[in-house]
Amino acid sequence: CGIVGYIGTQTATDILLAGLEKLEYRGYDSAGIATVLEGEIHCVRAKGKLYNLREKLEREVNPAKLGIGHTRWATHGKPEEYNAHPHMDSAMRVAVVQNGIIENYRELREELKERGHEFRSDTDTEVIPHLIAEFLRQEQLANSQPTNSLLEAVRGTVNKLKGAFAIAVISADYPDELIVARQQAPLSIGFGQGEFFCASDTPALVPHTNAVLTLENGELARLTPLGVEVYNFAGERLKKYPRTLNWNPVLVEKQGFRHFMLKEIYEQPGVVRNCLEAYLDDNWNPADVTQSPINLGISPELYADLEQIQILACGTSWHAGLVGKYLLEQLAGIPTMVQYASEFRYAPAPLTANTLTIGVTQSGETADTLAALEMEKRRRFGQLPKYEPRLLGITNRPESSLGQLVNQIIDTHAGIEIGVAATKTFVTQLMAFYGLALDLAWRRQTLTATRMEEILVGLRQLPAQIELILESQERYIEELAHSFAETHDFIFLGRGINFPIALEGALKLKEISYIHAEGYPAGEMKHGPIALLDAKVPVVAIAMPGTVYEKVLSNAQEAKARDARLIGVTPMNEHEAAETFDDLLPVPVVEELLSPILTVIPLQLLAYHIAARRGLDVDQPRNLAKSVTVE
Ligand code: G6P
Repeated sequence: CGIVGYIGTQTATDILLAGLEKLEYRGYDSAGIATVLEGEIHCVRAKGKLYNLREKLEREVNPAKLGIGHTRWATHGKPEEYNAHPHMDSAMRVAVVQNGIIENYRELREELKERGHEFRSDTDTEVIPHLIAEFLRQEQLANSQPTNSLLEAVRGTVNKLKGAFAIAVISADYPDELIVARQQAPLSIGFGQGEFFCASDTPALVPHTNAVLTLENGELARLTPLGVEVYNFAGERLKKYPRTLNWNPVLVEKQGFRHFMLKEIYEQPGVVRNCLEAYLDDNWNPADVTQSPINLGISPELYADLEQIQILACGTSWHAGLVGKYLLEQLAGIPTMVQYASEFRYAPAPLTANTLTIGVTQSGETADTLAALEMEKRRRFGQLPKYEPRLLGITNRPESSLGQLVNQIIDTHAGIEIGVAATKTFVTQLMAFYGLALDLAWRRQTLTATRMEEILVGLRQLPAQIELILESQERYIEELAHSFAETHDFIFLGRGINFPIALEGALKLKEISYIHAEGYPAGEMKHGPIALLDAKVPVVAIAMPGTVYEKVLSNAQEAKARDARLIGVTPMNEHEAAETFDDLLPVPVVEELLSPILTVIPLQLLAYHIAARRGLDVDQPRNLAKSVTVE
């Protein structure tokens, strides 16, 4: 979910709506805003996308200067209007928006019901305004008049909540205050001139200000037209200052592309170039074994006596982790395991010594990934030195919660990504793994200087090669996409370093076209999925010359023998491949080790065009969210 808030001199509704638009990638089941106007709370909510809310709001004039807003990704309760945020207390004096999950909401709700509170939704959030109202009531009883107390009531409330949450609160009785609190879900405050903003993520703030303060867990703040005060949950005032973001709001515009996803696919040559510029040392001298050709800005302690690596991630970032494992094992010889963060956090592998733990996440906010890393940090803390935590993050958002949690970050230089289906963030995560694996390989002397030079030359060619695919293939892939109007299932096959790309190709297609797709290691197809094949199920095989080329071609033949339509991602001018496949998605000639950066591009375009052709909402596919800050 995404939350926003505003207090100042401008019309709150406009600012809140514009902010929600920038956060809609975080969820879009329903949306709502609440403002304080003439001593009342004015709350408008709508099911579905933001335009439904916008339409409702256009029917009225509301000059309020204080308000909060929300765009929802449903957790507790269906995406209906009565479950949409903001939620209010029984007397409708307090309104709250929340991102997260309140785990003890059932007990709290029962207690509050006994005290006469009436509930109107199925959400976990609704207990919050009721609790705040209850605290305010008790304080008033004690003091016989409203005191300095909205902040105190919110503080009392957050101390009773269990779970992960970020909230923004307004009250009709406190027309000059906006209270926000953060516990394991992101929340930032923007500083303007006589006006202040809050939001789950910075894109909603940068159109107004570059001065941003990100709250840490266990902090709450009071925003008034005069300033911002930050406290911890114990009530102690903290000294905190905003930092300046050097962000360009243009990054979050479509710039003439039909969808953000397509724009981001086209940004890939540029962001890969960014990575090369950042990671490769141009002054490298192959004769000097003490100097690595790679500069990731990582301190050497992370690498000392490394025996094992574990990679924790979700979704597409997990696929990047699988490519990372291949590189780290094959180039640097370090045993590496890749785990879904949501699994690892409840069933971690036994502690291993001298282990580097890598969290990969494009948003830097995925709750499962953060929790898994936190758990790892906690269980290793205070152990013998060889077991102590060594945490590394790979992300394009170094300013995110991930950045606060881990000791070191590799910035993937992709900038923010808006399309829900990850594209440019994925290829740059791969670039980070190339950098890491090569750096480790050099330090551990598992690669010769000649081989290293070869790989570096190859890496430098990648941006131009991606450009070539985009220029020469897009039109053709768009046409090819038309032939899948009636298709219900797809199979993607790959082996070795391209097996994760098969998974990624299938995930992209599922996410945005809603076509069922499965990615398989090509050699496994015969052990089950082959039963699915017939003339109606296209098979996409990634067949790149190298260790497993002939094997993949044989696996593709097995599919062809079952009448499947075969689509091959192959190097340009490969005659053997041309004979095997019905359709080709050619990529420039590249060595196998570097091929994932190229082979994923046609698969992104294929998924994009199939979904766009079907008229689907490519950037905001149903049921998904870009940044999943709940478990
Ligand atoms: C969400 C997104 C996916 C993404 C996954 C992990 O489900 O829709 O595109 O791969 O989260 O996100 P992260 O930010 O941790 O990479």
